[in-house]
Amino acid sequence: MKNQIGVPLEGFAEFSRKVASEGVVLLKNQGNLLPFQETDNIAIFGRCQIEYYRSGTGSGGAVSTLYNSNILDSFPKAMVNAPLAETYRKFIEENPFDNGGGGWACEPWSQKELELSSEHVFTARKTSDKALVVIGRTAGEDKDNLDVSGSYRLTDLEEKMLEEVCKEFSQVVVLLNISNIIDLSWTEKYPISSLVISWNGGMEGGAGTVDVLLGKVTVSGKLPDTIARAVEDYSSSKNHGGVEKNVYQEDIYVGYRYFETFAPEKVLYPFGFGLSYTEFSLTDSKLTDLGDYSYELTVKVKNIGEKYSGKEVVQVYLNPPQGLLGKATRNLVGFAKTALLAPQEESTLTIAIPKSRLLSFDDSGVTGARNAYVLEAGTYEFYVGTDVKAKEKHTITVDALHVAEQYTEALAPKEAFQRMKPVEGKDGVYALAYEDVPTMTVDMAERITQNLPKELPLTGDKGIKLADVKNGKATLEDLVAQFTTDELCALVCGEGMSHPHVTSGTASAFCGVTEDLRHYGLPLVCCADGPSGIRMEGGLKSTQVPIGTLQAATWDVPLIEELYGYTGEEMRRNFVDVLLGPGMNIHRHPLNGRNFEYFSEDPLLTGMMAAAVTKGIGKAAVSATLKHFACNSQETYRHSIDSVVSQRAAREIYLKAFEIAVKEGGAQSIMTAYNPINGIWTASNYDLNTTILRKEWGYTGFVMTDWWARMNDPVEGGEGLRGKQGEMVKAQNDVYMVLNNFDAKNYRKVTNLQEHLDTGKLTIGELQACALNICGFAMNNAVMNRDFALMAEPKTFQGVSGTEANYTLSQAENILKVTDNKQFTFLCPETATYAFSVDFNLETTELAQIFFGLKLNEEMASVMLTGLTRGEIVRKKLCELELTQGTFTVDFQLGCDTFWVDSLILEKL
Ligand code: BGC
Repeated sequence: MKNQIGVPLEGFAEFSRKVASEGVVLLKNQGNLLPFQETDNIAIFGRCQIEYYRSGTGSGGAVSTLYNSNILDSFPKAMVNAPLAETYRKFIEENPFDNGGGGWACEPWSQKELELSSEHVFTARKTSDKALVVIGRTAGEDKDNLDVSGSYRLTDLEEKMLEEVCKEFSQVVVLLNISNIIDLSWTEKYPISSLVISWNGGMEGGAGTVDVLLGKVTVSGKLPDTIARAVEDYSSSKNHGGVEKNVYQEDIYVGYRYFETFAPEKVLYPFGFGLSYTEFSLTDSKLTDLGDYSYELTVKVKNIGEKYSGKEVVQVYLNPPQGLLGKATRNLVGFAKTALLAPQEESTLTIAIPKSRLLSFDDSGVTGARNAYVLEAGTYEFYVGTDVKAKEKHTITVDALHVAEQYTEALAPKEAFQRMKPVEGKDGVYALAYEDVPTMTVDMAERITQNLPKELPLTGDKGIKLADVKNGKATLEDLVAQFTTDELCALVCGEGMSHPHVTSGTASAFCGVTEDLRHYGLPLVCCADGPSGIRMEGGLKSTQVPIGTLQAATWDVPLIEELYGYTGEEMRRNFVDVLLGPGMNIHRHPLNGRNFEYFSEDPLLTGMMAAAVTKGIGKAAVSATLKHFACNSQETYRHSIDSVVSQRAAREIYLKAFEIAVKEGGAQSIMTAYNPINGIWTASNYDLNTTILRKEWGYTGFVMTDWWARMNDPVEGGEGLRGKQGEMVKAQNDVYMVLNNFDAKNYRKVTNLQEHLDTGKLTIGELQACALNICGFAMNNAVMNRDFALMAEPKTFQGVSGTEANYTLSQAENILKVTDNKQFTFLCPETATYAFSVDFNLETTELAQIFFGLKLNEEMASVMLTGLTRGEIVRKKLCELELTQGTFTVDFQLGCDTFWVDSLILEKL
């Protein structure tokens, strides 16, 4: 088969364009200004018409594409005001995109806008009747958004642009090309006719958006989040952005659950809302009791418009009785999107509402059923409609408390705090009160000891390979029993970033990390970011899809599954076995820098989307990774901020989506988060990784940490440090991401695994449990069909003859001192294989992922992604290459200005 690494999959970009258009949300459309008509001449304002944001930044956005679409060029030329477009092109030429120096998390959230004069607008108005104002924002990892101008708020120049345009034009469309939700209070101030959120639509996002603006696709997206009047209106505002801890005082009252229960007047655009170019009627809605508290809702949806075909999303919300627990007055329990309906066409939607969606978790015992999911007695109202304000109602009654699922206490906070609770309702709206959160009563040491995995007697090498297990000739236990403690310890260590023996520029490699492990047929598994497409730093191309929030805004589960079917195929082509996505943390607060990678404020919508991604990718026998497990809701102090949360909120809101993706999506790979939950870092959190994930949910896959994550003691808590892999294994977080490349075999130097084995803190059985999870995972992945040598064979680079060189290589180790940080030449006197290392010094934020590329005679020979060196010169091994006799020009590609290369080291093998 022809090697197609770096060749984007045929048809993927086209499908991604379709998804980009399906996730566009229309919030306002006075006088049916949209869609634009072919005869229109539109004056387009705002630099983002050209510099379209296709994603946020960081690991969730860095996809290298062959091309990108933008708004301006996606319009037919005849429809746009050409001189105005020219003005913007020129402005951008003179004021190029500011990437903040190119470093990690350096890019500003917005770019300088052209200062529009009345003259500009007056001139544009002479030829154009309609105006389109494009406002853009990015967001990203390692940097929260802020409630300031240029981030959550408009800049003065953007305000001026709106002011000037609205003065001159009476038909104004505002298009928001945004990663995260921004302040929209100004939409009530300026007389704009239409308001569209098109999010960041990936490489085809510009084209997909314009398909909607032109009516080629009828807009059908719905908000996956509530847009409040002010940022302080969100229920987590008081605690978001904390330094040491982030107390989840709002408990289950997140997003619309808070607003609908306590403060409906604070909502500017409600959850689930979005207009269409046509209109729909919902009739004959019927709730059928399927027994055991499961229901099915059917409803007829008719396109009652005359002109446009369209799709509608029907949503069902539950208002349960307040009972003793207290509940949100609206909870999404089911939804479905119609197929494209022609004018006057109708179809019947069937929406399943299984019992699990109706339940509340009693973490205090107030109902008499502590640590159980229950249905309290009372009246349950199901509201059917097209957003959270749905009015059509069906009612059922539960006569007595029903205990649906009994669990044990897990993940309860040690620290006492208070949480929100509704009291004294009037007209369906409640007053806000607080109650004490139940604290931890479990003896964690005892729980862990009582559940220690059984130790397999060490057998030594019996010649059993992983393929034998796959072929049913041996069991996984037989295989793992052969591993020495040395091999077990290396196996729980992943290596990266950009491992030279897997696809270049990817995030990590694990499983067959040492020769000893490969001897048992363990493959070297390749992991690559991320949620919006395969990230291969260094030039290999792939397809970038729309951000998670846009995907959720489609409310179209089969569509997202199909999209990730393409991702799975593209992964196969690139020998990427594990995608580090979907990102699926709950949008707890609009200023979280990574919301764009995540889906929604609602756990059901998030869970259904993540399950779709998982299933889609799984079709190609490769794997999605659910991340970041869990409660990672701010980027500020992301490695240490403690999420203090009740068991109820954790289970009903923050873990629920993961549970759905595990149970319904069949997920096999999960990444824990950077943060602690209730004092215990997620990567060493026993209740999270074992009690809940494996025992309650029956998860059979493997768990990895986030990159360079910290851990602390699963029982005592204490300081979170990177070297605590013993604690990680104890919690059954199986793989540490990442040690430096080639360091798994040196685990004694960089982890505390040996010390924990020696002191009896860790048992061989615990390591073997991780090994079983890792090998079981790898065995079912397409990587089993790949020959290690395919990637690991040293590539050959041809020297050029007869050219002068700065250095001549000698026999053993050559340290080539770099003087200008960039370019030099050396002569290789004879054909041989060399190990390449680099000595460098990098100043950046703590765990940045800065690009370094080594080019030899213009060809990319090696890629490294690396972070801060704390003022020291650090040596990292890059790769092994065969060089033929001749001269080589060395060229370094450096990801930021503060990257200093001291030497390149070549060791003859
Ligand atoms: C991010 C992860 C990502 C990893 C590898 C970390 O900084 O938090 O989401 O998958 O890097 O790039």
